[in-house]
Amino acid sequence: MRVTIAEIQEMKRKGEKIPMLTAYDYSMARILDELGVPLILVGDSLGMVVLGYDSTIPVTMEVMLHHTRAVTRGAKNALVVGDMPFMTYHAETSEALHNAARFLQEGGAQAVKLEGGETVAETVRRIVACGIPVMGHIGLTPQSIHQLSGFRVQGRDISGARELVRDAQVLEEAGAFSIVLECVPAPLARIITDSVSIPTIGIGAGIHCDGQVQVIHDLLGLFADFVPKHAKQYAKLYGLIKEAVREHVDEVKAEAFPTPEHSFGMREEVVRQLLEGMR
Ligand code: KIV
Repeated sequence: MRVTIAEIQEMKRKGEKIPMLTAYDYSMARILDELGVPLILVGDSLGMVVLGYDSTIPVTMEVMLHHTRAVTRGAKNALVVGDMPFMTYHAETSEALHNAARFLQEGGAQAVKLEGGETVAETVRRIVACGIPVMGHIGLTPQSIHQLSGFRVQGRDISGARELVRDAQVLEEAGAFSIVLECVPAPLARIITDSVSIPTIGIGAGIHCDGQVQVIHDLLGLFADFVPKHAKQYAKLYGLIKEAVREHVDEVKAEAFPTPEHSFGMREEVVRQLLEGMR
């Protein structure tokens, strides 16, 4: 049975922590799903860790839908959240509704995520009114990376902190079912978490959030360009994959692969007939 919005919200009420991880393809979605991860985010972070851009800004709707479809084919139980890309929910409300709907209709997701607080609250309200669950995202909002002058912790001074508390409350009031808090000081994340009844999902926001989200490539040590301070590497797949590929290349060069075990045979008689016919 697929995880529901009500169950995610119930986890906060029960004090049960909510794990959320990103996935961008079928195989990873299957692994997370089999492990019972309740929330899978098809994050626009794929622009950086899968496509090699230096920000999430170049990611388009078509790219997001392509990956969302792959993830939803692999995730049978998790609630899948599709990340609305840069400038697909700002210009016109009708465009935002249309794009949000595409994540459900074409991508097979159960919810969408969009970045911003008070400025997107009306859009959130309209999307939710159409029956599409929305996850908010405040603090460091990577789609505004140029406006924020880089990947920096947000809400460190009193006005920034007050603004984030207000953003969270306004998003709750607009009907968001949960909110990502990215790169905000842990004490502020705690205050925000206590001031809303919907779950907060932190990334670089300390232990007091109701849940935690991580980019799967960071967690598995698969992305070598940089390791964010908030990420813990539980494996070092970049090095492991290199070792495996190096071994394979060496075996191909040394004619040690493929062995008969990895090859297909043929009846001797057919081989003989074939060769005779070629003479
Ligand atoms: O795109 C993404 O992966 C995200 C998470 C980091 C929250 O937005």
